[in-house]
Amino acid sequence: MLILQTVEELKEWVHETKKAGQTIGIVPTMGFLHEGHLSLVEKAKEENDKVVMSIFVNPAQFGPNEDFDRYPRNLVRDQQLAKKVGTDVIFAPSVDEMYPRDSSIKLTAGTLAHVLCGAKRPGHFDGVLKVVTKLFHLTEANRAYFGQKDAQQLAIIESLVADFNFSISIRRGQTVREQDGLAKSSRNVYLSDVERNEALHLKKALEIGKTLFLKKQDPVEPMISYLTEHTSGKIDYIELLGYPSLTKTIQNDVILALAVQFEKARLIDNLIFNPK
Ligand code: PAJ
Repeated sequence: MLILQTVEELKEWVHETKKAGQTIGIVPTMGFLHEGHLSLVEKAKEENDKVVMSIFVNPAQFGPNEDFDRYPRNLVRDQQLAKKVGTDVIFAPSVDEMYPRDSSIKLTAGTLAHVLCGAKRPGHFDGVLKVVTKLFHLTEANRAYFGQKDAQQLAIIESLVADFNFSISIRRGQTVREQDGLAKSSRNVYLSDVERNEALHLKKALEIGKTLFLKKQDPVEPMISYLTEHTSGKIDYIELLGYPSLTKTIQNDVILALAVQFEKARLIDNLIFNPK
């Protein structure tokens, strides 16, 4: 497995790989890897000759009062895990390497970012668009892999690619969970033992909400009551929208999504399903 830290090295590798007629899959991550990330690599390996994983805690997507500085990092452990699942290249640039100068050109996510996490984290998805656009161009990947755990991010990236004719295919990966249902997340390490036990109720609340919605009942109020009773976290939002449109108009799939703020970690989770 190669570990590349500069744009020049990456471009050189991409050039050689393309010259050999091989396809490339990219798995963008911020590191502190878990089985959710690794499942995306496994999917990418099935569909491409070579798999690049980027590990970059992207400052552009963190707000001024968010957890950029204390976002968990462990490149040595990440390298071992990435190698085990057969990653060909890790691209782990520094912030200066990725953003050598300020650009006056901005990408803005627009209405898709006016709901759910986008409404609570202004500018977050603009920062995601900035980094993934660069990663897509740098790797010239044929396919890019994103998890449904971050369903709004996935919808926004799918829209970027479709609206601006990027030559890359976006592939969706299922949410990987702990045995008790908690969605795997790099931020789970910041839960206290008590909060960790409470956090399994996020998925339970979603299941309750889904059952009610399928019975044509309002899911939100009962979910608020359930979460208030079973967790000490503060509910940031619970919403039901069409997916991937993220509007109130429901055509095919729906997303039932929530965010809960615990003391040191804000957790998100969702279920996407077809109500018909
Ligand atoms: P990060 O949170 O590290 O997640 C990297 C990828 O792993 C994303 O596509 C995310 O949806 C996926 N993922 C996270 N937890 C998952 C789980 N439990 N099951 C399945 N997939 C999971 O998302 C980001 O980083 C960043 O915003 C990034 C896209 C890398 C841009 O900086």
